Amino acid sequence: MKFYVTTPIYYVNDIPHIGHAYTTVIADVLTRYHRMFGEESYFLTGVDEHGQKVQKAAEARGKDPQTHCDEMVLNFQNVWKELTIAPDVFMRTTFPYHKKVVQDCLQQLFDCGDIYIKEYEGWYSVSEEIFYTEKDLVNGKSPAGKEVTLVKEKNYFFKMSKYQDRLLKYIHDNPEFIAPENKKNETLGFLSKPLEDLCISRPKSRLSWGIELPFDKEYVTYVWFDALLNYTSAIGLKQQGRELEFQNKWAAAVHLIGKDILITHTVYWPTMLMALNLPLPRKIFAHGWWLTANNSKMSKSEGQVVKPLDMKDIVGVDGLRYFLTRDIHFGNDAQFSQDLVINRVNVELANNLGNLLSRTTQLLHKYFDGKIPERSSNLESSKEISKLALQTSTRVREDIYNYSPNMAVGHVVELLTKTNQCLDQEAPWKKAKENLAEAGETLLTVMEVLRISAILLHPVMPSKMNELLERIGFREKVTFEEAQKWFGLTTGSTVIKADPLFPRIQTENK
Ligand code: MSP
Repeated sequence: MKFYVTTPIYYVNDIPHIGHAYTTVIADVLTRYHRMFGEESYFLTGVDEHGQKVQKAAEARGKDPQTHCDEMVLNFQNVWKELTIAPDVFMRTTFPYHKKVVQDCLQQLFDCGDIYIKEYEGWYSVSEEIFYTEKDLVNGKSPAGKEVTLVKEKNYFFKMSKYQDRLLKYIHDNPEFIAPENKKNETLGFLSKPLEDLCISRPKSRLSWGIELPFDKEYVTYVWFDALLNYTSAIGLKQQGRELEFQNKWAAAVHLIGKDILITHTVYWPTMLMALNLPLPRKIFAHGWWLTANNSKMSKSEGQVVKPLDMKDIVGVDGLRYFLTRDIHFGNDAQFSQDLVINRVNVELANNLGNLLSRTTQLLHKYFDGKIPERSSNLESSKEISKLALQTSTRVREDIYNYSPNMAVGHVVELLTKTNQCLDQEAPWKKAKENLAEAGETLLTVMEVLRISAILLHPVMPSKMNELLERIGFREKVTFEEAQKWFGLTTGSTVIKADPLFPRIQTENK
């Protein structure tokens, strides 16, 4: 296995919003790219069903937690399907086999003395499902500004502090482990202070919705301890007959997360894995947030969220996937608004890509009977464009390997812009009268660019790019090799003239 990518598993306290869609779309896009490069890949997403937050949401709806989860999970599955997101496995933490893995791990740590019981007092944030000490609080709230309540009770603890030095050494020895660099530094900053042990239980008297501790029936386990293990239970950890599968996939693990859940992934999770004698994942990549117009995080608790399907209805599935991949530099924050989405789709898909296709198709129908012209590369402009197109393929692959899908798409946009300029300069509609061969060469050059661009953008917009390839008469399998060669279209094959591939979206104020 070359690439095993995971998204966070989302709390089923509410319906998915654009923030959830973002990580999931990027994971899907990256998986499709890796597959196109010929690499065996596997993609996991799912839902986090236990804990106080979900229990409260179920109570608020007057449902028992399991019924609540069974209903809510469908919202996630349906939205992902609508957005052509195709995970290989959709995890639910209420799956019996997952529960068993969690209990086996708890037992292992209890047996080796890495879990112990003590009286505890701390401040709990339900919205983050995290305990804080008095000194962590900022103006009586969690560092992220969430409400906290004082909890005093006997609980089980995981000896996280025992692994602090080993984790620090690991991060220093493996500079690629946490990305981007600023998130690695944030983790190192967190680790520069003595690490507390991690409270991994909740008495059933306070929280019943969770996985029972195998060594104490009065307690359930902490939701993060349960949730993080999904990345391994999903691929066979501690399951008879799945040992090789686990080894194979786990060695290729890449966790995509939002920066809001950095420390749980870069500190809690690696120390848990160390205690379990398991290797650490290959990479943890923390991306930024989509922000509202007043620059706060788009989230349910902030009150301003966009439902992915509402946006899809305006710009189409592929338009939305395109925007999410293109508009944020992976790792940074960016603003999200309906106008920004529409503008991006209009400028780059309707105008740049869409116009190139419709102009060329019309000219081919006018002067070449709607057929792909003879192959030739005599014009300087064609030679330059073909060189740029092949360089673009290489750059796209490099950018994907560097976790920069927005840059990958940006290179294709540049290629399309240059090709539009070339078409304007060569003006085949004028040349057709005196030098039909040269006009044909330019039109073929544009068609080849469209073919290569459609392959390179296929992981981002699978359905639209299939349609584009069909219109230009490309019948081969969509592989990266096809994007690495010039002349993949068959001379004489028919080009389809049809409605705009990306119709311009009208806004109320325009
Ligand atoms: N259940 C935990 C994760 C456990 S993983 C073992 C959780 N769930 S969540 O439902 O709150 O989802 C958080 C994730 O949603 C973020 O890490 C991020 O991937 C995504 N996003 C939520 N809001 C976001 C934005 N406004 N912008 C970008 N991504 C955001 O935390």
